[in-house]
Amino acid sequence: MTNNKTPRHFLDIHDHSVAELREMLGRAAFMKRGQGAERPLLGKTLALIFEKPSTRTRVSFEVGMRQLGGEVICLTGKEIQLGHGETIGDTARVLSRYVDIIMLRTDHEAKLQEMAEAATVPVINGLTDSSHPVQIMADILTYEERKGPIEEAVVCWTGDANNVCESWVHAAGLFGFEMRIACPPELTPSQQTLDWIKEKGARVSIHRDVETAVAGVDAIITDTWVSMHNKDAHRRHNLLKPYQVNDRIMGLAKKDAIFMHCLPAHREEEVTSSVIDGPQSAVWDEAENRMHAQKGILTWCLNR
Ligand code: CP
Ligand code: NVA
Repeated sequence: MTNNKTPRHFLDIHDHSVAELREMLGRAAFMKRGQGAERPLLGKTLALIFEKPSTRTRVSFEVGMRQLGGEVICLTGKEIQLGHGETIGDTARVLSRYVDIIMLRTDHEAKLQEMAEAATVPVINGLTDSSHPVQIMADILTYEERKGPIEEAVVCWTGDANNVCESWVHAAGLFGFEMRIACPPELTPSQQTLDWIKEKGARVSIHRDVETAVAGVDAIITDTWVSMHNKDAHRRHNLLKPYQVNDRIMGLAKKDAIFMHCLPAHREEEVTSSVIDGPQSAVWDEAENRMHAQKGILTWCLNR
């Protein structure tokens, strides 16, 4: 579909103002309560493009878009010409003539930017090697349902300072909450993110000792030790063993602290089953909230 307006993309948390993010979250919570217009995206089509595997992102976008009254086309890897040398830009130009909104899961952030520049419809980031903003919108929704305003939170990320962690950092900088990152020096946030933390005066601190970092926090967050784009699994396992979330580590946080994980989890690696299946775990709500948060994002992008 073509239009003359600049599309409302959702590419990264820190591309947006807090007011815009709050509007998306508000829409999400409203729709989760069963309020709002019936089928606001009737007649609209969402294209999902996956250059990496997915369970939650794929299913939550598909089901969410259908609940909004829209249609979905899911395109993966080598089944489209993008996987055989057609450029991202040309793919974006062509898809913009057929669909109303595009979600892309890819490797390099530059590819997402290229798609957004060439597309005449909104583009949503469904994860890159360095960010996962739709996940963090679901995480904020989940945190606030359980614990109240995110602005008042003290959270600890433990493990690999990966793509999900980087998007959490951007949320911390924007919403103003405190974030402690416990990670080995080899797997610390990127220089670009460290510079951003400094420039924005974000309340984000880097720790080597997980026990100090988790003391008294409201939420402990972790993720896999080996992301989809990582090739050095053995090295990462050795470096990250001290950063596992287990009952002892949960016991150092506030009594009512929650455990968060974007999933998929690798049980007994980054988190023990006792924690992920335990009473403080919020992970299944997080997974459900992917769908609600994305419904807020989809309707915001399409201004419906
Ligand atoms: N959390 C998340 O994005 O999961 P999938 O890789 O299954 O989409
Ligand atoms: N850090 C993980 C997140 C998966 C949703 C990865 O990139 O593989």
